[in-house]
Amino acid sequence: PESRYNALINLRKGEIGREIFSSREIYEEELERVFTRAWLFVGHESQIPNPGDYFTSRMGAESVILARDKKKKVHVFLNSCRHRGMKVCQYDHGNTQLFTCPYHSWSYTTEGKLFGVPQFKNLYEGCMEKEDWSLIEVPKMEIYKGTVWATWDDNAPDLMTYLGDAKTHLDLALDCRDGREGGSEVLFGVHKWIIPCNWKFAAENFLGDTYHNVSHRSVDLIGIGPSAEAGVKGRRDNELEKAQHVWANFPAGHGVHSAIMPETWEFLDTYKNNPVVAEYFREAHARRKERLGAEQHRLVPFVGTIYPNTSFHGNQPRNLCVWHPHGPESTEAWRFFLVDADAPQEVKDFLRSYYMRYSGPAGMTEQDDMENWNYATAGSRGVIAKRYPYNYTQSLGKVQTSGPVSGNVSLQVSEENPRQFYRRWRDYMNGADWDTLLGRKDQGPASLAA
Ligand code: FES
Repeated sequence: PESRYNALINLRKGEIGREIFSSREIYEEELERVFTRAWLFVGHESQIPNPGDYFTSRMGAESVILARDKKKKVHVFLNSCRHRGMKVCQYDHGNTQLFTCPYHSWSYTTEGKLFGVPQFKNLYEGCMEKEDWSLIEVPKMEIYKGTVWATWDDNAPDLMTYLGDAKTHLDLALDCRDGREGGSEVLFGVHKWIIPCNWKFAAENFLGDTYHNVSHRSVDLIGIGPSAEAGVKGRRDNELEKAQHVWANFPAGHGVHSAIMPETWEFLDTYKNNPVVAEYFREAHARRKERLGAEQHRLVPFVGTIYPNTSFHGNQPRNLCVWHPHGPESTEAWRFFLVDADAPQEVKDFLRSYYMRYSGPAGMTEQDDMENWNYATAGSRGVIAKRYPYNYTQSLGKVQTSGPVSGNVSLQVSEENPRQFYRRWRDYMNGADWDTLLGRKDQGPASLAA
């Protein structure tokens, strides 16, 4: 029988039902069907460098602990006591030998083992074995270039299979500016804030909704590039306008917007207010070209979303952002700003101020976006409004299966990336197997799908 989700996601017509952005029932099903299966970004190794370090994160709507044990092994645990569910870790981050539950004081080691139970001999001996009551740990966890990812699905494919060729674009967010692999760290704390919107509006925006740039027109006019010279356009400048832009999506539902810069692409001195920073990026640009070669060097990823809710900016401001579900009409946004770990302090300080000016709850661009997503969510709820689907027809049928980058590629602004994202979303909601979720049964543009 036709599922509710097949009816809501009509890819051939490019129509998507509004209630997927506002229904509580659908939201609850997403937590069960999407967030217990997909790979989710949990944190960065640089946040837990030493034995006993921990960072409290989330997977879906649930709290998890990212911890490094005594032997330096990394774990991801559900932050929930096995006795009555109290959070065993109340802090955002820190260092500990034991996670001690505040309710009745059961304690767990950083390997997750149940260690201390008050009055164990009197009350529990013979009734339970401590080994059976460890913290609940994710069945699969992988570290990629410092980023830690986990899934609750024992049958999920490995992370590299899941990422597929989206990895090439994600890499620029994770690698050093000079092209060295990894080597990044999270700069200052994680920005966290709550947006009154459905999480999918944010995830979708980062699939490459370049069409919304009009929302940031005021920012463009005053200039918010790294130099932020009033009246001077920042990074959104000439060379980018000359580049070949590509919007690519991948079988597992990820989508990116990247640019292939002109062959003549030279370092663009957008940091001229600060000679130390300008020199750092000029050198990094030259070394990256040497390391990657002239062709690969020209690929500059801007934004992308790794299905379902981890987005990234590949260029400045370089970061990962997780859109945690927090209710059908609420998203908890977490932004992890990244910087070359060995960059001079002056460069880090400069980027700190630039990142905060650009992104985050008080950043200039994010405020524009949040207002859009807020009202779009409200517009998905109305009794009359819900009778009318949203229009996802942009560049329908104008996608090619091979292009200058891998994946299904559009060379003009396109909604094919969201169409692919919602094709996978529909499959997760229908409880599909992993071959379907990885696109092995339906390679090719979503717009051709039933
Ligand atoms: Fe944790 Fe009782 S809920 S010890």
